Amino acid sequence: MKETDACGFIYMPASSVVEILNAEPINTTSSLQEAGKNPPMAQAIVRGHLPVPNVQELAQAWNRSSEPVPEWYLRAEEEATADEVVAGGVIPVVDLSKLLDPQATEKELAKLGTACKQGFFQLINHGVPDEVLLDAKRDITEFFKLPLETKEVYKQLPDGLQGYGSAFVFSETQKLDWSNMLYLLLRPIELRDMRFWPAQPPSFRNSVDRYSAETAKVVSCLLRFLAVDMGVEQNRLLDIFGGQPQNMKVTYYPPCREAGKVMGVSSHTDASALTLLLHVNDVQGLQFRSDDGRWLNVEPIDRAFVVSVGDILEILSNGRYKSVEHRVVVHPSKQRISAAMFHQVDRSTTIGPLPELVEGGGVSRYRSVSHADFLKHFFATKFDGRKSHLDHYKI
Ligand code: OGA
Ligand code: NI
Repeated sequence: MKETDACGFIYMPASSVVEILNAEPINTTSSLQEAGKNPPMAQAIVRGHLPVPNVQELAQAWNRSSEPVPEWYLRAEEEATADEVVAGGVIPVVDLSKLLDPQATEKELAKLGTACKQGFFQLINHGVPDEVLLDAKRDITEFFKLPLETKEVYKQLPDGLQGYGSAFVFSETQKLDWSNMLYLLLRPIELRDMRFWPAQPPSFRNSVDRYSAETAKVVSCLLRFLAVDMGVEQNRLLDIFGGQPQNMKVTYYPPCREAGKVMGVSSHTDASALTLLLHVNDVQGLQFRSDDGRWLNVEPIDRAFVVSVGDILEILSNGRYKSVEHRVVVHPSKQRISAAMFHQVDRSTTIGPLPELVEGGGVSRYRSVSHADFLKHFFATKFDGRKSHLDHYKI
């Protein structure tokens, strides 16, 4: 099953999430629970309207048992990871320091353009100080080590997305991801809701705040160069990104002794515009779909960001850049932690190809839609993923 995830939509008021959810027939109790299938060690976290087990807790006990994979995590065989995966899918490496160096700009800009056409690349020499990266990694790792009760102080509310919990579950038949997450709205700063920001470890808030500021700077830089590559005015994308809405999804993937039977994050495209992913520890698991349909592993370079184009940037660029399907597999014996920064356009933006890209005889390859309608459609077609979401706008 393909899905498009909720990247970037966290700044929606909780009430509008509920409104959208209410459009679908959702029961407030889970059939998993009604059927008494939840393992005794599972703690329910309320997510959207559906309570689901805490995977970190569940995995700890389950990995020591000889029980089969709980049914609600068990993936169909066609999703199994083994044969179709080619190790070491190579994605382009873009060097931000070269982009900024007048001597090297032009060549590196061409690389950036090609990279965005492929949809995934690694960004090195991005200028984020090591100390900022290390502090963020340390505090994120420490947070997931806290006892469940402490983490649950920051848990998601029944009608919202921010906080500690899991990705959204819309239906009782949906297979669950083998992961927990902490989802926070970071920018615009005035919209931060500190109730969901861990106060433990004590330096967490400061580390994340600095990390947010540094990554926002990197994204501003990238947006300028992308505008140049697209042949539009240099500040064009920056203006559209307005206050640079930024959300962070930190994901904890527990090990799974039958790793091939579960999925850390189901196949999806990011609905946001631009994602910067940091590997918090050195365990890989991210895979993207190549043109020939195979899944390729991303082999992260130490301290690099894995950058990916999201749906909105594909549309804005009139299909020049690609929002590529990706997923996360889990490790049989090691935990994996990642931090994804989703960057969004301003809410007042109409989502459609930039007019200057289609003026003068060009062809618009996507229909334009208001941000609100884009969100509504995104949630309404949650289950069919890319096909019915992004393809819905293709002309
Ligand atoms: C996501 C995602 C990748 C990862 O959450 O949208 O693609 O490596 N995560 O955790
Ligand atoms: Ni993603």
